[in-house]
Amino acid sequence: MPPSTNKRMLITLENPKSPISESYRMLRSNLDFTSFDNNEKILMVTSAGPSEGKSTTTTNLATVYAQSDKRVLIVDADLRKPTVHLSFNRSNRNGLSNILVGQAEWKECIQSSGIDNLSIIPSGPIPPNPSELLSSKRMKKFIEEVKDEFDIILFDTSPILAVTDAQVVAAFCSGVILVVDAGKTKKDTLSKAKHTLERADARILGVVLNNISRSKGDSYYYYYYGT
Ligand SMILES: Nc1ncnc2c1ncn2[C@@H]1O[C@H](COP(=O)(O)OP(=O)(O)OP(=O)(O)O)[C@@H](O)[C@H]1O
Ligand SMILES: [Mg+2]
Repeated sequence: MPPSTNKRMLITLENPKSPISESYRMLRSNLDFTSFDNNEKILMVTSAGPSEGKSTTTTNLATVYAQSDKRVLIVDADLRKPTVHLSFNRSNRNGLSNILVGQAEWKECIQSSGIDNLSIIPSGPIPPNPSELLSSKRMKKFIEEVKDEFDIILFDTSPILAVTDAQVVAAFCSGVILVVDAGKTKKDTLSKAKHTLERADARILGVVLNNISRSKGDSYYYYYYGT
C-alpha cells in the first residue's frame, strides 16, 4: 500500500514560529518540570470522546520534543482510527498490531518520520481485538525493549470513554495527557474520563484545552494546566 495522500498538516513543522507552535513548546516545558520514575517518559495522549485533538496533540508535541534534540518515538496505539502515519505521509502496512500478534519485531516496524530525532511506529492493520492485544504480554515486552532507545515515547490512543483500549495502555505509561475540546466536552463527561483514568491507576499529568477559540472563527490555541 503506498503512503496515503490524505496528509494532515503538522503546524509545529510547517509554521514553528506561530503562537500555536509556541503553545506546544509551552506544553513541552511544563512536562519538563514533571518528575518521572527512573526518568522514563512514556506518555499517553487521550481524551474523553472522539475528535477532541488527541492525534494533533501527539504529533505536534512529539515534533517540538524532537526539535529540542530529544530522541522521540510516537506509537499509534489507536488501533481503531489510526492517523499518525497520515501526519508523516507514511505507510501503515506494518506497525503495532503486527508486533502485538507476533508477526513482526519492532525494529521491522519503526519508520523515520522525516523529522530528525523523530521515529514512528504506525498502528499496522486494524485488528479485530484491539484491547486484548494492547493488554498482552507482547505489549509489555515491546515497551521494555524500546524504552531505553528513546528519551520520550508518546502513545496516541482511542477515546477513554468509548472503549477500554486507552485504559489498558495507561497501565504501561508513566503519565497521561488528557485533551479536552473546550467547545464540546461537558464537565461531567470530563469528570467521567478523569475517574476512568484514575481507576486505571493512571497519572494524569495535565489537561490540554483544545479549540479554545475555534468557535469564534479565530485561530486555535492550546493551553496547558499542570496538576
Ligand atoms: N484546535 C483545532 N482547530 C482546528 N482543527 C483542529 C484542532 N484540533 C484538531 N483539529 C482537527 O480536528 C480533527 C480531529 O483532530 P484529531 O484527529 O487530532 O482528533 P482525535 O482526538 O485524534 O480524533 P479521533 O478520536 O478520531 O482519533 C482533525 O482534522 C484535526 O486536524
Ligand atoms: Mg486520533
